[in-house]
Amino acid sequence: MRSHYCGQLNTSLIDQEVDLCGWVHRRRDHGGVIFIDLRDREGIAQIVFDPDQPESFAIADAVRNEYVLHISGRVRHRPEGTVNRGLSTGEIEVLGQRIEVLNKAKTPPFQLDDEYIQDDVRLRYRYIDLRRPVMQKNMRLRAQVARTLRNFLDQHGFLEIETPMLTKATPEGARDYLVPSRTQQGTFFALPQSPQLFKQLLMMAGMDRYYQIVRCFRDEDLRADRQPEFTQIDIETSFMDEKGITLLMEEMIYTLFRDTIGVTLPSPFPRMSFAEAKLRFGTDRPDLRNPLEFVEISDLMREVEFKVFSGPANMDNGRVIALRLPQGGRLSRKDIDDYTTFVGQYGARGLAYIKVNATGNGREGLQSPILKFLPDAIITELLERTGAEAGDLIFFGADKATVVNDALGALRDRLATDCGLLRGDWALVWITDFPMFEYNEGERRWDALHHPFTAPQIVDPAELEAKPGTCLSRAYDLVVNGLELGGGSIRIHKPDMQRTVFRLLGLGPEEAEEKFGFLINALDYGCPPHGGIAFGLDRLVMVMAGMNSIRDVIAFPKTQTASCLLTSAPAPASDKQLQELGIRLVRPATKTD
Ligand code: AMO
Ligand code: AMP
Repeated sequence: MRSHYCGQLNTSLIDQEVDLCGWVHRRRDHGGVIFIDLRDREGIAQIVFDPDQPESFAIADAVRNEYVLHISGRVRHRPEGTVNRGLSTGEIEVLGQRIEVLNKAKTPPFQLDDEYIQDDVRLRYRYIDLRRPVMQKNMRLRAQVARTLRNFLDQHGFLEIETPMLTKATPEGARDYLVPSRTQQGTFFALPQSPQLFKQLLMMAGMDRYYQIVRCFRDEDLRADRQPEFTQIDIETSFMDEKGITLLMEEMIYTLFRDTIGVTLPSPFPRMSFAEAKLRFGTDRPDLRNPLEFVEISDLMREVEFKVFSGPANMDNGRVIALRLPQGGRLSRKDIDDYTTFVGQYGARGLAYIKVNATGNGREGLQSPILKFLPDAIITELLERTGAEAGDLIFFGADKATVVNDALGALRDRLATDCGLLRGDWALVWITDFPMFEYNEGERRWDALHHPFTAPQIVDPAELEAKPGTCLSRAYDLVVNGLELGGGSIRIHKPDMQRTVFRLLGLGPEEAEEKFGFLINALDYGCPPHGGIAFGLDRLVMVMAGMNSIRDVIAFPKTQTASCLLTSAPAPASDKQLQELGIRLVRPATKTD
């Protein structure tokens, strides 16, 4: 049917006959002449129908938006003055000769070039939403990213190997999606949260280098960068340490950006320990395009009479920090009140501040409700540490460290956006030296910060058992512009260490055996040292495409409540199906969407 894509027409085809197939993007009637903008995957071409071809003119006159057409015609230059520089096909048009309506369309629920289209309408009519040029571009980029990564990994000796979807629970910290078994009623498969254990088994199986572009399933609270099913670029290799793996992955990401979107990333990627990231930015995924930094002042505030500061300064898990906003003196009372409300959402009980109108004159040049609580010497030291200059504003956070980190970390991001502080387009950073465990107050036990198969930096299990709280792990995360793009680690490859870690996590020998017996057994049969990483493909494509949500780079994503508006999944099962599965519902199924 088609000789060319609409979007590929150009002046080299002048006077040639072409056959085009596509959708009516727009139809205009210009005083007896009809213009149809015909759209296909590659772009838009303008077709003109003159009344001196009455038959095709009549058809062209009757078409409406989103009709599917087959048009034959001749390419010609657009008349002087009507060239559209904004369109790749803007120098030419097609004089339509034959037109066939391949299919009609109802009036679409939204105009494809509407500035704002409601999310739920987009999802319900996803096949129309995906026709929009930006979505076509995103899907194409996604395919290109996957292809480039496959090529890179193939060239570096990685084998693509599939792992089961119907499997046992994998501990990545989220809730599992369960699939009931019919043949063994009352038992369930879990959909994989990641192929973590299988990729380790593949290393034990001597595959040496594995990768997979693989779907993972996690039943967790959804956000702009989280979907219940998402795709990982999952990688594992034997006989390589963290240095080797991160360098190879760095080369992969660098090559990917260069070959797909023509971006030369700043390289080498900097490295920063988890502790340093928390200290300076309050988060383990700092956006390093943002120049604002926390200044630790806990030590300064221990003796002050202002309880809001001295309280947390003297607490074991407390923290007091200053955050200087250069030229922040311009902020109004209302701005500061808004920011106070904003940090409140993260648990902060207030947002103290000092306006620095002038420096060099002690408290004279300062303006703040808390000045009266702070002695001269402390104020001098404070200005010194923060490097405050005239016109600046200093914010303070004082609370449990977790609250300060969350609240002032979020404020740091917000200020960068509001005040246009971000420098450069891309900032990647490896975060390393994570704590091995974090203490779970509620459950009174240790939780793995990465996952239970991550190796500690110490090799002696007895030593780990003696000081789990201070031990660091061999995990690493790659962060881009404040987004966690991927994470991985060197794994435990000795059975005694794996047993010790399970024990510290509160898994008794029986429970460990029941859940992970197959892994512990495999460790006994000659396991090579190994490690790996997984990147979120959706997040990767999202940042490369400049989108704000991973939904925009997934063809058929789900809503905030994990349902599909297009197909209405999930849906109740029939009584017969439930009976076959041996399932009796406590309550009849109800739909919330
Ligand atoms: P982790 O749990 O850090 O590691 O996941 C790796 C990467 O997957 C992406 N990701 C998600 N993307 C979209 N929606 C989600 N719900 C979601 N959850 C995670 C993130 C994240 O960095 N098995 C380990 C990897 C390893 O140790 O090799 C793992 O799954 O980009
Ligand atoms: P108050 O004494 O409660 O009136 O607080 C004095 C100033 O300290 C106000 O500007 C509050 O916003 C601020 N403030 C109160 N609690 C905190 C806190 N936990 N961290 C930072 N600033 C706070």
